[in-house]
Amino acid sequence: METLIPIINRLQEVFLTVGSEIIQLPQIVVVGSQSSGKSSVLESLVGRDFLPRGSGIVTRRPLVLQLVTVPPLEERRKQDNGIKAEEWGTFLHCKNQIFTDFSEIRKEIEEETDRCTNNKGISPEPINLKIYSPNVLSLTLVDLPGITKVPVGDQPEDIETQVREMILSYISNPNSLILCVSPANSDLATSDALKLAREVDADGRRTLLVVSKLDLMDAGTDALEVLLGRIIPVRLGIIGVVNRSQHDLNTQKSLADSCKDEQVFLQRHYPSLASRCGSRYLARTLSRLLMHHIRDCLPELKTRVTVLTAQYQSRLNSCGQPVEDQSATLLQIVTKFAADYCNTIEGTARHIQTSELCGGARICY
Ligand code: GDP
Ligand code: NA
Ligand code: MG
Repeated sequence: METLIPIINRLQEVFLTVGSEIIQLPQIVVVGSQSSGKSSVLESLVGRDFLPRGSGIVTRRPLVLQLVTVPPLEERRKQDNGIKAEEWGTFLHCKNQIFTDFSEIRKEIEEETDRCTNNKGISPEPINLKIYSPNVLSLTLVDLPGITKVPVGDQPEDIETQVREMILSYISNPNSLILCVSPANSDLATSDALKLAREVDADGRRTLLVVSKLDLMDAGTDALEVLLGRIIPVRLGIIGVVNRSQHDLNTQKSLADSCKDEQVFLQRHYPSLASRCGSRYLARTLSRLLMHHIRDCLPELKTRVTVLTAQYQSRLNSCGQPVEDQSATLLQIVTKFAADYCNTIEGTARHIQTSELCGGARICY
């Protein structure tokens, strides 16, 4: 993602100038069964620890996570405005509170989830979180509750339908990139995520498969066939990852260490595929997909810029010759306006008189 940030920033400046919102980067939505590793995958993409994760149903409301690129603190300091932190977060439900401690962000997500739901219940009411950082792309990620079949706690009998509807409402948006997460230790052929994705994206133009938990496969088995696309082909790609285990979370293993260990694991177990797997490769693949998306938007943007240029040029032409002396400009415009105005009135008056003299009732303006 790193190389994309400056490019997109520059493009976004152009959009602002031409007043265009043509390039809407796709929102990335994670879909998968409960505890397949969706929240873990999102966290590794953002590169920060802030999402509630764990066994059982942890994500119980959609989290719409808007990433916003800001200049580095050092640059912002020079202008002496804004927030004195490199990265921070804000929630829509408590707009004025600024979170610079990411563990506080996680706590707030948990508390806000509980405010809206009871005992393991789910709610389609999204939590809106914005994260501002120089190290992210201006992009929207959506974390969703997992697909589940059997109600637990106070969950309603139709929990499966409810979650399904919630997921569909996000992934049916044609601007959504669907990140299906399926654990390597369960049968891919029964992947509910892929099944749901196919419902809204039949030809797989916007579906990517992440195979999580490569480290948890039974001894003597591996995911090679799956990762090669021989079991189920996925047009945009199949990427295997190893995220932090529950034990890693309990012992507060860092994302950086996890990423290093992931690489070691991949080199050892999938040497032929190591360069096309892992969290870092996933991030790079998403960057590439975003680039393609932008490239597809460029012709439309170019047309818009051309039209706007022509519009402004003709408006500029109607303002007359450029004037060197800035202070003279306004005076000249006023003078010219006044003269034109007088001429028009005089002309009109003359017309009226002439027509009247000719006995005509017509008034020509
Ligand atoms: P979600 O319910 O799909 O959002 O899944 P989470 O990200 O909350 O993860 C569920 C559990 O699986 C957590 O205990 C994670 O630590 C664990 N987990 C996720 N990915 C992996 C992985 O690649 N390997 C291992 N060993 N555990 C993982
Ligand atoms: Na979970
Ligand atoms: Mg989750």
